[in-house]
Amino acid sequence: MSETTKPAYSPGLDGVIAGESAICAVDDVHGLRYRGYGIEEMAAKVPFEDVAWLLLHGEMPTETQKKEFAKDLSASAELPEGMTGILKSLPKKMRAMDQLRTAASALAAFDPDTGKFDHEANLRKSVRLLSRLTSVTTAGWRISQGKEPAIETKESLASRFLFGLTGKKPEAWRVRVLDTIFNLYAEHEFNASTFAARVTASTLADMYSAVVTAIGALEGPLHGGANEQAMTMLRDIGKPEKAEAWVKERLAKRDKIMGFGHRVYKKGDSRVPVMRGLLKEVGERVGQPKWLEVCLELDRVMEKEKGLFANLDLYAAPVLMLLEIPSELNTPLFACSRVAGWCAHVIEQQDKNRIIRPRSIYTGKAPREM
Ligand code: COA
Repeated sequence: MSETTKPAYSPGLDGVIAGESAICAVDDVHGLRYRGYGIEEMAAKVPFEDVAWLLLHGEMPTETQKKEFAKDLSASAELPEGMTGILKSLPKKMRAMDQLRTAASALAAFDPDTGKFDHEANLRKSVRLLSRLTSVTTAGWRISQGKEPAIETKESLASRFLFGLTGKKPEAWRVRVLDTIFNLYAEHEFNASTFAARVTASTLADMYSAVVTAIGALEGPLHGGANEQAMTMLRDIGKPEKAEAWVKERLAKRDKIMGFGHRVYKKGDSRVPVMRGLLKEVGERVGQPKWLEVCLELDRVMEKEKGLFANLDLYAAPVLMLLEIPSELNTPLFACSRVAGWCAHVIEQQDKNRIIRPRSIYTGKAPREM
């Protein structure tokens, strides 16, 4: 780039086109589409494993491919002894996302394909990551609670996640709800964690390094961490009558309200109607309909006060709470699903790679003598 050319600059890369991708499209008009399929239609219709396959391969799996994929995921579910040992060696008070990031990094040591970058090796690593992030998240949680890991290998990832926490076979309705949540979280174009993963992948670093990068980026409350913070907020508000005053007080202090706003969606998050439906269903089922009322009231007040709409995380937080998932695991759970999107992006990036290396505008001192 010539020194005299003035590059286009957009703080936060707002609106910047930073690459091409055939994996996912998102906009206010068509909502969110995975490989062309609308998420509103597919979220509750197909299992997460099919969605993960679709993201990784570009088409829905055939019956044979479904069986093979399930077999491969099962085969990777158990954690190597050394990995369990690492989880047990971590401080019990470690935050769940720190534990997951550490564990994801360590998993590279147990993958025979680490260091290989070809398409097939990347696909094999994707399967192991998809299967094992759920295992390390739930095993790590149980270990931090002074319990032994409980790893189910045969069932779906949603079922394995729930079993992994309680050690008991989960009820079918809980598995179905979590499966839909996994589908909603699986992929979202060039969001911060996915973009971070692509930057790392573009140096031809290993897929594990890219996923560890992504987990780090996901943790923050402006991204994936919002679903844990949203639950803290909802508990603090407690009932719909308190929502308006609570929000106004925070907005007066220019605080960010977790679970609201989005870089891409300006007319509402296309995943919200499905998640709102889950909150209604689960709230009624377990006799706690008030959380939907609190969210709806927050939605009303935020639109009136700021013209902002809820994103997926606002409605996900109470659904996860009603599924009895500890809120510390909300963001790790997000990672267990989004890893499907991350891996698909790493593969796409490395299949047709050019290093991602933007420029900055220098705002420091003018050239000077020592
Ligand atoms: N609460 C209060 N104000 C908010 C807000 C929120 N959640 N989200 C955006 N705003 C405000 C901004 O401060 C800004 O106000 P200003 O013009 O007075 O400075 C205005 O709305 C426009 O913000 P915008 O440019 O659209 O935000 P962004 O694209 O830079 O950031 C998010 C997008 C998602 C990071 C931001 O909306 C946010 O922090 N949300 C809360 C965290 C969250 O829920 N994250 C999960 C995202 S899926």
